[in-house]
Amino acid sequence: SKQRLLIKGGKVVNDDQSVEADVYVEDGIVQQVGPNLNPEPPTGLIVLDATDKLVIPGGIDTHTHMQFPFMGSKSKDDFHTGTKAAVAGGTTMIIDFAVPQKGSSLIEAFDLWKSWADPKVCCDYSLHVAVTWWSNKVKEEMKSLVENKGVNSFKMFMAYKDVYMLNDEELYEAFSYCRELGAVAQVHAENGDLIAQNSKKLLSMGITGPEGHILSRPEEVEAEATQRAITIANAVNCPLFVVHVMSKSAARVLASARREGKVVYGETIAACLGTDGTNYWNKDWAHAAAHVMGPPLRPDPSTPDFLMNLLANADLSVTATDNCTFDICQKALGKDDFTKIPNGVNGVEDRMSVVWEKGVHSGKMDENKFVAVTSTNAAKIFNLYPKKGRIAVGSDADIVIWDPKATRTISAKTHHQANDFNIFEGMVCHGVCVATVSRGKVVYEGGVVKVTAGEGKYVSRPPFSPYVYKRVRQREKVCQPVPVKRAPYTGLVSITPVAPK
Ligand code: URP
Ligand code: ZN
Ligand code: ZN
Ligand code: ZN
Repeated sequence: SKQRLLIKGGKVVNDDQSVEADVYVEDGIVQQVGPNLNPEPPTGLIVLDATDKLVIPGGIDTHTHMQFPFMGSKSKDDFHTGTKAAVAGGTTMIIDFAVPQKGSSLIEAFDLWKSWADPKVCCDYSLHVAVTWWSNKVKEEMKSLVENKGVNSFKMFMAYKDVYMLNDEELYEAFSYCRELGAVAQVHAENGDLIAQNSKKLLSMGITGPEGHILSRPEEVEAEATQRAITIANAVNCPLFVVHVMSKSAARVLASARREGKVVYGETIAACLGTDGTNYWNKDWAHAAAHVMGPPLRPDPSTPDFLMNLLANADLSVTATDNCTFDICQKALGKDDFTKIPNGVNGVEDRMSVVWEKGVHSGKMDENKFVAVTSTNAAKIFNLYPKKGRIAVGSDADIVIWDPKATRTISAKTHHQANDFNIFEGMVCHGVCVATVSRGKVVYEGGVVKVTAGEGKYVSRPPFSPYVYKRVRQREKVCQPVPVKRAPYTGLVSITPVAPK
């Protein structure tokens, strides 16, 4: 039996326009968008009323770590609770990371993460793969992941020394090979050597608490690595996607590279739009530790507004969450040493509301830009568009009914995540998800999540979108060096070498 759904009376908002229209869905695909639709037969049709509401493409969270084995722990939210929370907040697709240990197989890591996700996911998902070491075997595996597994993005770490970090030569090779494969090179931009040195020094001074985390990695540690990554990517003409841009300094570096025409994208994180790094000095150790993530939240209180302005004018492209939750017991692994506090915070459920509140309700961006930075831009960059990131005939029916006027108070007491803490606790957000449709099925409505574990699908992503590829080619023409033709130099013939005595 065909599943049929009609979303009536709302305003359909895409990244480029808004129209008053109904949306008709069959078998998970949008069939019609237009005024006063009356699909036949009326029997067996599920109708959602969207009067006075916005009908938007489901959110895409380009950065999560569900059940991630990391820093001696495993993140609390697994692919089930994590995607359940996602759909409750209006996100219908996540892109998680398969992260192999140094020296181990990328394909095995991908298969392992997929085997964790497939039986549990409640919405569609995809996987980036991390390149944590470098060899010919890694190259072969990257090629195979692109050709056979639908992976078009690889994350390289400049931090987590001895665990995931690549040096500059390895980054050069990895970026260069991404460019050859037509894959997006993602980078975690922080100077891992500096972090290690700073941490040693702070610990020796008796600074063991969460404030040590931020003191060990100030803004310039992020800005320097961001600049270095851009320089290296530019040397090999590779498009670069900087994950979790967390500071004004790093964002400025990225924005100025874009001014120069470099193909660089920035992703910022709900946590640093909704809260800030002053929490690291909180007298309550657990509260402070709960905010520990890398790069850290910034104590400069003007950071959230600054980053939101950059999203509004397209200097930053994407909002994600880096959702990687650890409860108080797990965070306590670092009670005597801040370098052992598992890095990570929540966000997958609250991102959409936080971006609406800080972006749209505050007057910095309109509803179309909101859709761009929460869904469409991600779909374009990771080559999922217009299957994802748009409400149009032929697109996947990943749709959210959004109430721009309602408010919601974020709290760990009411959230759907598995964790015992919410970094946005007490924040009142205008902009509330009232219903979520995943591939044509209503998975959230009226405060109730109606998901089935394993119902989400793995989404393959082919290499570079034609748009990105064209821009890289254009730049290549500009950058291609040509040797100068000149006659052999003869100026030195009169000099006679003198033999040493
Ligand atoms: O604190 C973070 N970001 N944890 C997850 C690992 C990473 O670097 O993305
Ligand atoms: Zn990272
Ligand atoms: Zn991450
Ligand atoms: Zn408000």
